[in-house]
Amino acid sequence: MEAVLRLAEDDMDLGAEVCARIEGLTYSYPNTSRPALRGIDLTVARGEILGLMGPTGAGKSSLCLTFNGLVPQLHGGRMSGRVTVAGLDAVTRPTAELAVRAGMVLEDPESQITSTTLEAEVAFALENACVAPAEIRRRVDAALAAVDLGGLQKKHPANLSGGQKQRLAIAAALALEPDLMVLDEPTSQLDPQAAAEVYAILARENRERGLTVVIASHAAEEMAETCHRIVVLDEGGIALQGPPAQVLSRVAELEALAVRPPDIARSLSRLAPRRSAPTPASRFPNRRRAPCPKARPR
Ligand SMILES: Nc1ncnc2c1ncn2[C@@H]1O[C@H](COP(=O)(O)OP(=O)(O)OP(=O)(O)O)[C@@H](O)[C@H]1O
Ligand SMILES: [Mg+2]
Repeated sequence: MEAVLRLAEDDMDLGAEVCARIEGLTYSYPNTSRPALRGIDLTVARGEILGLMGPTGAGKSSLCLTFNGLVPQLHGGRMSGRVTVAGLDAVTRPTAELAVRAGMVLEDPESQITSTTLEAEVAFALENACVAPAEIRRRVDAALAAVDLGGLQKKHPANLSGGQKQRLAIAAALALEPDLMVLDEPTSQLDPQAAAEVYAILARENRERGLTVVIASHAAEEMAETCHRIVVLDEGGIALQGPPAQVLSRVAELEALAVRPPDIARSLSRLAPRRSAPTPASRFPNRRRAPCPKARPR
């Protein structure tokens, strides 16, 4: 879609503290001619839940990977523009340093789990970051409790359900106490109940601890309820952005972009325009109205 429809003039609250900033970002993977991301300007406020939506290939995953520097540092390719996370230049700072600032959760929980107990899994990145042992114990217990896996420290991750595995991956990211949590389609492999639990945890961590979240997803209903702002990407650029109620009610534009709007928005948009509801008098034109008592002649 050529025209960029900007629903909110300011893409963040003017008084808000900046968590991450992307300026004039254009990026192409190696050996490709079309940019995966083009002309992105985006600011993520501290304490915000920012939702990324868009059709397949729109650039959601690529954008997610810029926050921890894996695009372009791991993937290579050509990039122009700037990305900063918690004041760090995500294009040049070591990815190990960025991984602590921008915790990442991917679509497939299996691919992220390497340890034989839940506590070892959550402790792994903390040990790599040279956090003191007592602090590691405190953070592991707090992170597992935050994702409703408290008391399962010694359990083997293989014995968890898919939803529990994804919550474990979230705990491992939370334990780093990151400035920003980036989740790329974290619920696409989960059943609706497990997906709802993931969104509830993110909303609670945001509400109670001010966690800043960037989440890419196709789950329109959950995104509408959880996010403060939605950015819709198309062909690597920002096509729509604004509060969920505004963006997700633009059913025709979303459908033109192959983005599924929430079912309720689609139903409402399909209601035929109607005249105002008929009054009792117009419904029963032959019924004589009793005169108003005040108007009755004495
Ligand atoms: N490693 C890669 N090498 C080359 N091109 C890539 C690579 N990863 C993604 N792309 C291309 O970059 C563009 C953006 O892809 P990206 O995966 O970021 O989209 P997406 O919005 O996450 O899509 P999906 O909804 O399918 O996950 C697409 O054209 C895709 O083919
Ligand atoms: Mg993707």
